Amino acid sequence: MGLKSVLEPLIINDISIPNRIVFPAFQTNFATRDGFITERLMRMYKMLAAGKSGLIITGAISISDDGAPGPNPLRINSDKHISGLKELFSVIRKNGSVPGAQLIHAGRQTLSVMTGHPSFAPSAIPCPIIKEMPIELDIKGINRIQDDFVTAARRVKKAGAELIELHGAFGYLIGGFLSPFSNKRSDGYGKDKSLFFTEIIEKVKQKVGDIPVSCRISADEFVDGGLTLNETRKIAPRLVDAGADIISVAAGTYASMKHMAPPLSMGIGVHVYLAKEIRSSVDVPVISVDNIRSLEYADQIISEKKSDLVAICRPQVADPLFVKKSINGQPVVECIDCGKCMSLLMSGNAVSCPQNPEL
Ligand SMILES: Cc1cc2nc3c(=O)[nH]c(=O)nc-3n(C[C@H](O)[C@H](O)[C@H](O)COP(=O)(O)O)c2cc1C
Repeated sequence: MGLKSVLEPLIINDISIPNRIVFPAFQTNFATRDGFITERLMRMYKMLAAGKSGLIITGAISISDDGAPGPNPLRINSDKHISGLKELFSVIRKNGSVPGAQLIHAGRQTLSVMTGHPSFAPSAIPCPIIKEMPIELDIKGINRIQDDFVTAARRVKKAGAELIELHGAFGYLIGGFLSPFSNKRSDGYGKDKSLFFTEIIEKVKQKVGDIPVSCRISADEFVDGGLTLNETRKIAPRLVDAGADIISVAAGTYASMKHMAPPLSMGIGVHVYLAKEIRSSVDVPVISVDNIRSLEYADQIISEKKSDLVAICRPQVADPLFVKKSINGQPVVECIDCGKCMSLLMSGNAVSCPQNPEL
């Protein structure tokens, strides 16, 4: 099997992504307490950039202190964060990849003891895993957070990001608004559960100017009363109407965590069918993810038009040269599916990988 499809560039607006492989957002807790870049983070992205994925999405980057998903995420809640990110994006660009930035507000999936702020959500319903009662956002709060997304987008663009990803997956704040599992509001943001997200997309597009925006969603949340493909097939076109240039299709929430980074026992390419379905409902490129473990398989996904880009995360964490070595037919250091990266992250620690001691 060849690699023709996966090595084909993709043009989105004015940017050319040199191949179809994405290193998706990967929280590490490697930043400083205040969300600044560290040597360790820089080293990780330098190694990944040498691997030659077409698109490297950094982050998740927290737009505000109350939206921090962990103790040491990257942050972009002040202009002071711009210069470190500038260096980071330039390292990625120098190696030929397109640098992207994922922006997050964690909503109810964080802890106030960690952020020093109350947690906020569409409705006062705790995440069943985090179990902390969030404050239901009023309109002023909604506007403030939407503006925080816009300001954050402007800052990462200033720092040199060539693509912005809005994190609407996994039950964080944007995903929480999209979902009947967490959004029980009776106002406009409850009647139209996409409204919070579409307004952010529109504001980013209007106020930040011409930069491609990827919207990451959980196409199926795999929780009772949560989003299913039935709804997300209707939501995705609305995001595109609001200005989304890419839809990135993931799955799950904290209440269905195994879907967020599935073990191999769930199957190779376990959620690719979701990307294929979403792709048939929109006219913009779609990213698939989850247990895509070889470039040959990625090539097949693209050539069969199940998605336009393929995100490969843990295999590139285990071997940052995964893409380059695979192109050259060299053996890679394989992800052994131990789950250590995710369990360290979820317990508030810095991630590590037994296969990659340099991480
Ligand atoms: C430790 C860890 C951190 C992650 N952090 C993020 C994140 O910040 N934002 C995000 O959208 N996805 C995040 N993900 C999910 C990955 O982007 C990806 O969707 C997931 O690992 C499945 O892809 P894979 O099978 O290629 O590893 C994370 C996954 C892991 C294991």
